[in-house]
This record gives sequence, C-alpha cells and structure tokens, in this order.
Amino acid sequence: MADIIEFKTDRLIARQWRDEDAEAFAQMNADPRVMQYFPACLSRDKSDAAFEAMRSIITEQGWGFWAIEEQATQRFIGFVGLNIPSPELPFSPCTEIGWRLAHEFWGKGYATEAAQGALRCGFTQLNLAEIVSFTSIHNQPSQAVMRRLGMLQETENFQHPKVLLGHELREHCLYRLSKARWAVNAKA
Ligand SMILES: CC(C)(COP(=O)(O)OP(=O)(O)OC[C@H]1O[C@@H](n2cnc3c(N)ncnc32)[C@H](O)[C@@H]1OP(=O)(O)O)[C@@H](O)C(=O)NCCC(=O)NCCS
Repeated sequence: MADIIEFKTDRLIARQWRDEDAEAFAQMNADPRVMQYFPACLSRDKSDAAFEAMRSIITEQGWGFWAIEEQATQRFIGFVGLNIPSPELPFSPCTEIGWRLAHEFWGKGYATEAAQGALRCGFTQLNLAEIVSFTSIHNQPSQAVMRRLGMLQETENFQHPKVLLGHELREHCLYRLSKARWAVNAKA
C-alpha cells in the first residue's frame, strides 16, 4: 500500500478509480471508435478485469493510469496516466504515459491537459528521468497528443510483441520525453 497521488488540472481531476466508474469504463471499451487502434473492443468481463488491475496498481504504488473526471459535471471521462509496460518491449525498462477517453470527450483538449498533469507528477513527484509513449503508426490522434506534450519521435519504429505477426496494428512508433526537455517546455 502506498500514499495515493491524485491531482487536479484546470478542468479535470485525476483520481483513484471508484466502483461507479466501471459502467462508463465498459461502455468506452465497447465503442469501436475508441478501440479502433486496438485489436478488439473489450467485453464487460475484460473491461472489469482491466478496471480492477488499474485500481490495484494505484492502491499498491500510489500512481498509475488514473480515472479522469470532468470537474464541471463530475463525470468519468476515461483514463490518463503513467504505467510500467511489459518487460519484453525493446526499450524496457521504462515508464510510459497513456490515455483513452470516451468519444464524447474528444476534441476538448482533455487528453493533453490530463497528460500534462501526469508528466508533472512523473518528473517532480516520482523523479523519473524519462517518460515514453507508443502507439500504432496508424493512430494519428494519439501521436498528436504526444507531439503537443513536446515528446520527440524515435526514428525507428518497433514491432509490438503482443500484437500478432502480420497484423496491421503491430508496427508501433515510439516517442520520448526527458525530464530536462520537459522542464524547459514547462517553464516556457
Ligand atoms: C487519443 C485521444 C485521447 C486523443 O483525443 P483528442 O481529443 O484528439 O486529444 P485532446 O484531448 O488532447 O484534444 C485535442 C483537440 O481538442 C481541441 N480543443 C478544443 N478545445 C480545446 C481547449 N480548450 N484546449 C485545448 N484543445 C482544445 C484541439 O484543437 C484538438 O483538436 P484537433 O485534433 O482537431 O486539432 C482519443 O482519440 C482517444 O481516446 N482515442 C482512443 C484511445 C487511444 O487510441 N489511446 C491511445 C492508445 S496508445
């Protein structure tokens, strides 16, 4: 068990998951628009398992993929946060930043806003030297978030080991952000 880190941005709250988030989380994971760049939408069982896993990680280590709430409405809008990904990735060990928002909350700057809060947490409270992010080469909206955060794309893509050989989502791009670069951008 760790002290749980939570934070606010201008319009959002990043917090530990609550039981009542599970329903909206499952709806988001069943939406083909949201899951376009994943191999499949999630069944309710798989969504609930992911929910429990993310909540447990935050309970154990104090941070992770946080549930994101819109302050004005107190609605759950998705998740954004930090995670230690699979050790078999070619650039592991590392800490990644990631996001998934329900479709109705796209186009408002929410992913970037919450991610800026997560980066601040990663670099100042967790004292990470670098945060990475990766996605399918086809996922332009996610790469746009990475660029808005000031992350820099590696020249070489990689094949995600958990996506089947030959699958169109297997080729991934990798973006990196050092604490030094973040600090310069955060001050500007
Ligand atoms: C990736 C994802 C979070 C990006 O969502 P997004 O809405 O494009 O990104 P942001 O929340 O940062 O919003 C930026 C957009 O809001 C607009 N915007 C509107 N009001 C804004 C405001 N007040 N402040 C900032 N931006 C604002 C921006 O202009 C931008 O629009 P544009 O893309 O047309 O230029 C979303 O597509 C998603 O959840 N996808 C499914 C999950 C996924 O693929 N995750 C990544 C897997 S690796």
